Amino acid sequence: MVLRQRICVQPGSRALRFLLCNLDFLCRVIMFHGAREYLARPGDLSDVDIALPVRKDSNMRRMVGALCAAAYSVGLMLAAIAATPEENHAAFIRRDEAMKQLGRSFNINIGRVASGKTQFSPDTIASAETVIGIIATLPTLFPPGSDVPESHLKSELLADPARADELIATVKADAAQLLEAVKTGDKGRIAVAYKTLNDACNACHNEFRKPYE
Ligand code: HEC
Repeated sequence: MVLRQRICVQPGSRALRFLLCNLDFLCRVIMFHGAREYLARPGDLSDVDIALPVRKDSNMRRMVGALCAAAYSVGLMLAAIAATPEENHAAFIRRDEAMKQLGRSFNINIGRVASGKTQFSPDTIASAETVIGIIATLPTLFPPGSDVPESHLKSELLADPARADELIATVKADAAQLLEAVKTGDKGRIAVAYKTLNDACNACHNEFRKPYE
């Protein structure tokens, strides 16, 4: 289920989405077809001597046919799943852009209010809302294959989607708290909520981001 969602949110994978969404149906058709052919044995059961070799042979051929059909559809699926190098690179760029924007809206705009460098203003609320909006896209930003060489993403994250979901869920919850705090305009509360969310961001960075030189 997780895998499906992850793949489905990748842009440019309309063919894949179609395949996955119809996979259950496809399997059912193949199975139904195989079973029907298998059950509809030719020959009269009373005529065992003649019918038996014929049955064996044709059953075998049907089985092989069904297996080939299954292998073919799996092959089709794999071809659709494998993203091209261009798609992997585009996924990395999307993630990098989103992170940079998080850096601007959260670390700079809200961070300065939290540290007292800038006065609270309605812009602070707008920044917190932007942060919430970007965080909502985080689950789509780590598709398989996006750990291209120029990325600082450690591949371990892609191998552990459950851990990624967990880290992102914490970030999401803390961002909701941040927005509440920002809406009060209270610098002390904003500073506390800022630190909580910053720690949640860094939990992922410490575990899954390669250090920048
Ligand atoms: C699930 C893991 C994860 C979470 C959660 C996360 N990040 Fe990141 N972040 C990364 C990874 C991985 C990179 C490196 C991206 C790459 O090179 O592909 C990164 C890069 C960055 C960068 C550097 C971008 C650049 O190239 O200059 C900033 C800034 C950043 N994150 C801010 C944040 C903020 C702020 C939050 C929380 C609101 C956050 N991140 C939450 C994983 C995460």
